[in-house]
Amino acid sequence: MPNHTEIYRKDAEKYHELISKQNNLTNIIKQIRPFKGLDIVDLGAGTGRLTSVLVEEAKSIIALDASEEMLKITKEKLEKTGFTNWKTQVSDLRKLSLQDQSADLIVAGWSICYLGSSNNPYWEQDIYKVIKEMKRALRRNGTIIIFETLGTGVKTPSPPDFLKKYYAALVNQYCFSHQSIRLDYTFDDMQQAEELTRFFFGSDLSNRVVKENLVHLPECVGIWWL
Ligand SMILES: C[S@@+](CC[C@H](N)C(=O)[O-])C[C@H]1O[C@@H](n2cnc3c(N)ncnc32)[C@H](O)[C@@H]1O
Repeated sequence: MPNHTEIYRKDAEKYHELISKQNNLTNIIKQIRPFKGLDIVDLGAGTGRLTSVLVEEAKSIIALDASEEMLKITKEKLEKTGFTNWKTQVSDLRKLSLQDQSADLIVAGWSICYLGSSNNPYWEQDIYKVIKEMKRALRRNGTIIIFETLGTGVKTPSPPDFLKKYYAALVNQYCFSHQSIRLDYTFDDMQQAEELTRFFFGSDLSNRVVKENLVHLPECVGIWWL
């Protein structure tokens, strides 16, 4: 499996190319919490997949991430939009550089999982810290929406073993509601499918992509909201 920390430091552009092959999540977020006029925070914003759609209707949006390289792409994209209601900030999810009760909506896409993985011996404490920080920054009646993987290359939810305890904790311990959706990749051609899947998911999936001609690659995504 490729080293994702390294990717987020050195290969942000290529990560962005990969996720540009998935649909955007505007309507899904709107169904859970219409976001017009809200103060929003995007945790682990990366190259701005969520920030760049939310910025259009937000009162304000802050994109936080541990990786300056990833945020650089978000910044470049947002500068081109002409919107001025945003900022980017390097920050760890466990200690958010946010004021108390300053956000109406907090979103986190595929980012908390790096702390929630049971390969992290401190995953329970880390998840506790992240949730506590989100609740501290959230206003009364605020909403948290978390997106995480339920499997790439699968048509029905199949969460990775190392994330199962974190997902269970979101529902059982922290009382999040949950649903799952499909968020498939549609690559331009086979060569691109092979290259981008190898880059991020590694050779097992990429070999399967070639063998099964998966230019359209299924992916399942979990959504948790509170
Ligand atoms: C898979 S990317 C997701 C990016 C973006 N949210 C998206 O939907 O494409 C994961 C991001 O989480 C960030 N991240 C991982 N652990 C973090 C932490 N402890 N604090 C802040 N950001 C973190 C990484 O730097 C990376 O940009």
